[in-house]
Amino acid sequence: MTHQEGTALKIADQIRQNVRPFTTLDVGGAARWFVRAHGAQELAQALTWAKSHQVPVFVLGGGSNVLMADAGFDGLVLQLADHHIEIQHTDDGRCLVHAGAGVVWDELVDFAVTHDLAGLTCLSGIPGCVGAAPIQNIGAYGQDVSETIAQVHAVERATGASRTFEADECGFAYRHSHFKGRWRDQFVITAVTFALSPGQQAPLRYRDLKERFAGQDTAPLKETRQAVLEIRRSKSMVYDTADPNHRCAGSFFVNPIVAEKDAQHVVEVAQERWGQDTPVPQYPAGQGKVKLAAGWLIERSGFEKGHIAGRAGLSSRHCLALINRGGASAAEIVALARTIQAQVQQTFGVQLEPEPTWVGFESQDTA
Ligand code: EPU
Repeated sequence: MTHQEGTALKIADQIRQNVRPFTTLDVGGAARWFVRAHGAQELAQALTWAKSHQVPVFVLGGGSNVLMADAGFDGLVLQLADHHIEIQHTDDGRCLVHAGAGVVWDELVDFAVTHDLAGLTCLSGIPGCVGAAPIQNIGAYGQDVSETIAQVHAVERATGASRTFEADECGFAYRHSHFKGRWRDQFVITAVTFALSPGQQAPLRYRDLKERFAGQDTAPLKETRQAVLEIRRSKSMVYDTADPNHRCAGSFFVNPIVAEKDAQHVVEVAQERWGQDTPVPQYPAGQGKVKLAAGWLIERSGFEKGHIAGRAGLSSRHCLALINRGGASAAEIVALARTIQAQVQQTFGVQLEPEPTWVGFESQDTA
């Protein structure tokens, strides 16, 4: 037996059958195959195994942004278990932090804050892993992760070749990147290098955050992290099994970016229905576009917080989080999502697009 056959057998031994992958929404069926890859060699072996068995691969991070179909996934679910964090000081005064894809996101933020490194603080409490962060360019409270990403390290699925992308190659935009767009399913992200700033304060760009610091523009990292965690917790956006809203996938829809005239239509509908002074949350999104708040649109089109739809429902603290109230199927979550989309469309003429990754569905149109 060659060495290569030996390691191939080793990974084959570790591939388990019929595993229900962990997702925070806690719906859906099993993966036909499941493996946790430790390091580059096991990842390469797992990809080779999937190729030779002609099965599709889904890379699972923390499971916090995934909607798994009831039929499960007829392929290999692959989870990366690289939990290394390395720190390197550079001559220009910045600090490069290199984190493996399997590092829990909030542990990285905690690490950065503990080492007095600015750049990630407002992203405290976001569930998931480092490897998933660049895919949808996670963001919160005025910071997007793309602001501090220096490089994304990946393996090309088709060839097994290692690739390093500079941040400006990744096509980062609001909740988007090439990894989610034109490069979808082409790469497995193995690690991310962040360029962080030692000894600086955190920017306070977001209203909820500014209010906590009496209108200051910046604040110390530790206090900012504490404030962000408190705000997120008050909206059930920190994963906590003691919270009745915990079975969810965070924001279920992205905030829609629409043309100015469509935003104006939303304002007109709001003024007609609820009076001239009705504030409509909206933010300039560049190129004459406007970002609207999906949570507001949902609530104002008739779904109250805590809305119940059988075993599915809405978070009692935030309409943008669809929840599994206990024992819900993926089909029930999808049905509620469809109802919400139809009602928001009918009320405001705005199309909401789901944010989580749908796994095991024929397409996002079928449950
Ligand atoms: N709103 C309502 N009703 C609701 C929910 C929100 O009227 O049920 C209104 C709020 O009052 C506010 C506006 O909608 O005026 C925006 O709400 P919020 O500040 O809670 O933020 P969001 O736009 O719903 C986004 C991100 C979150 C991030 C927060 C804070 C998306 C899809 N979501 O939510 O992203 O934490 O801003 O920056 O962009 C996450 O989902 O885990 C996440 C990190």
